[in-house]
Amino acid sequence: MKKDSTVLCCVLDLAHNAGSVAMAVSSRHPGSNPHRGFGNEEKRNLSLGGHVGFDSLPDQLVSKSVTQGFSFNILCVGETGIGKSTLMNTLFNTTFETEEASHYESTVRLRPRTYDLQESNVHLKLTIVDAVGFGDQINKDESYRPIVEYIDTQFENYLQEELKIRRSLFNYHDTRIHVCLYFITPTGHSLKSLDLVTMKKLDSKVNIIPIIAKADTISKSELHKFKIKIMSELVSNGVQIYQFPTDDEAVAEINSVMNAHLPFAVVGSTEEVKVGNKLVRARQYPWGVVQVENESHCDFVKLREMLIRVNMEDLREQTHTRHYELYRRCKLEEMGFKDTDPDSQPFSLQETYETKRKEFLGELQKKEEEMRQMFVNKVKETEAELKEKERELHEKFEHLKRIHQEEKRKVEEKRRELEEEMNAFNRRKVAMETLQSQSLQATSQQPLKKDKDKKN
Ligand code: GTP
Ligand code: MG
Repeated sequence: MKKDSTVLCCVLDLAHNAGSVAMAVSSRHPGSNPHRGFGNEEKRNLSLGGHVGFDSLPDQLVSKSVTQGFSFNILCVGETGIGKSTLMNTLFNTTFETEEASHYESTVRLRPRTYDLQESNVHLKLTIVDAVGFGDQINKDESYRPIVEYIDTQFENYLQEELKIRRSLFNYHDTRIHVCLYFITPTGHSLKSLDLVTMKKLDSKVNIIPIIAKADTISKSELHKFKIKIMSELVSNGVQIYQFPTDDEAVAEINSVMNAHLPFAVVGSTEEVKVGNKLVRARQYPWGVVQVENESHCDFVKLREMLIRVNMEDLREQTHTRHYELYRRCKLEEMGFKDTDPDSQPFSLQETYETKRKEFLGELQKKEEEMRQMFVNKVKETEAELKEKERELHEKFEHLKRIHQEEKRKVEEKRRELEEEMNAFNRRKVAMETLQSQSLQATSQQPLKKDKDKKN
């Protein structure tokens, strides 16, 4: 019961928050009413007589956000050794700890690492999550599963925090994945089925930005064809990748141009090479130098611009308003919460709670009755079993008793027979002895008689 009431309170609060978020992002959804929080009353435009000060609200927001700091979470999915760590180091112009993954992982494993970065006075808590062992198993059917589970777990943790009575969302470390950089192997052919399956499984859960890794290993004309092929395969398989938003005038133009450049073909390197009189990050080959930040060499700058400088906040917002919202909605629906009743009438959370409570109590009673019945049946069964066992034992005992008596009778008989035999034997013995003594007497008297006869 306690859990149900907790859920109710927090869901009420969530509904309120969701309303304000929906207002903030209404520009993304042309059908929604941006003023729904104010009802349908008429509004009048009034002019102010002088400076009041609420024009400082955006500054207040900025200052609050800067004090609070930001978090950004990147998920890197791509084959072992495809250049994930090098690209992260290049993107953030630092050296994160890089630990080579082995090619012998039995399953895909998610490895998150969090770093505190600072640029000017802005603090960024950056989490880089590596899908270690991706693509290394012989059977790759389930390779996407640990990734999906990891993303869902982060959503679940956030939802649990929101549903708490004492929430601390203000200093909660939000680990929800804001972007998935999907590293495509530069084969020049087409996407692998593993790529398509994984991206399809992830596209409703995370903003996917596909990138062609190690783009210096593929020629310019091949790269052009490869990009077209990838995009057409993504479209024909219904994979939704992240589109840079074009509804904000300030960035609409650059974003729509960049959307046409997807997937970005990137080169990563932390090595510095002298080009002219400047030190630039590049990869040096016997035949030349690939400059990471040279836009005619690769799309690294485009990726950095789009990911960090222009759309980082949009990625965070999309994660909250689209992907997390979807997860939250499904989860709450699973728990039995709904906005309308079967007649499409608004259904308050209080009503949902009451219905759920009644359902729960009904189910509990049913379960109790079932358990009681089960117990009674079990007792009866056990009783019957015991009786049966007792009867069997009794029968066995009677049987053994009969056998015993029979044996006893046989032994008695045998004893009697033996006694009789013994008696007969004794009688014969006595008779024999008598006979023997008589014959002895007879033989001893015969010489005497002969002597007498001689004398006579
Ligand atoms: P694991 O974490 O072990 O899966 O590897 P990873 O994907 O992080 O790759 P990592 O960044 O460690 O790079 C692996 C190798 O690829 C290193 O030798 C890099 O120098 C090389 N490499 C990285 N980026 C590029 C690139 O853009 N082009 C080329 N040609 N090589 C690259
Ligand atoms: Mg790595």
